[in-house]
Amino acid sequence: MSNIIAELRDVRKNFQDSLIFSGIDLWIEEGETIGICGDSGSGKTTLMNVLGMLDRPSGGSVIWEGNDVTGERSSKLSKLRPKLFGYIFQRCNLIPELNVLENLLFPRRIVTGVEQSDVDFAKNLLKRVSMSGAESRNITTLSGGERQRVAVVRAMMNHPKIIIADEPTGSLDERSADAVMDMIVGLCGEYGSALLLITHNGRFAKKMNTSHKLHGGKLEKIHRWSRES
Ligand SMILES: Nc1ncnc2c1ncn2[C@@H]1O[C@H](COP(=O)(O)OP(=O)(O)OP(=O)(O)O)[C@@H](O)[C@H]1O
Ligand SMILES: [Mg+2]
Repeated sequence: MSNIIAELRDVRKNFQDSLIFSGIDLWIEEGETIGICGDSGSGKTTLMNVLGMLDRPSGGSVIWEGNDVTGERSSKLSKLRPKLFGYIFQRCNLIPELNVLENLLFPRRIVTGVEQSDVDFAKNLLKRVSMSGAESRNITTLSGGERQRVAVVRAMMNHPKIIIADEPTGSLDERSADAVMDMIVGLCGEYGSALLLITHNGRFAKKMNTSHKLHGGKLEKIHRWSRES
């Protein structure tokens, strides 16, 4: 049985007359880590949005857990998406009106409602990212690195099968970036989530099982981890 969670088959995307990419084949298997790099404007965020069906492809198919969801209704996609994907963005996109714990419980509120086990899980993960005791802090009082660590925890809250991280450390200094990256990779490994990492940082891309470059509208594999490399 295939353990592919999400897949793009011969996908094309254009915005009006402008072709962003075509002929894209990409699949993400359970627990694997994939890096995608490429110049600014090459279409990395668009690719991620198409995989999560936040944006529809202009051609080809998007497959989630073996089902073709390319023509699926938005309401159905909104129900399926949180179980499959957890998102981390360059700017953390936390809700400033809610404190840290409320931000973490928000994705649970949308999917199932909040239970005590969710509160325990959130507190446990906060400890794991060295943010113990920050539950009631106001988001606006956190540093950039601290916000990003909260965003990492938030992405894990629904136990998604894939974490999609779009330049998650792009706004951090090198030390905080390394720490946040280690936390993302560590938590994904521990909870069995696959990781799709979009990054300009070649060092981070090399840490992934495979990495690809989006260039001239095509996806090229640039690295596959092996014990020898
Ligand atoms: N909704 C849209 N309508 C029209 N053009 C768009 C839209 N979204 C993105 N584009 C264009 O598609 C191209 C790819 O954008 P995208 O955001 O995917 O690039 P990127 O590789 O993520 O870049 P960066 O590294 O700067 O984040 C850009 O030229 C952008 O202007
Ligand atoms: Mg982008």
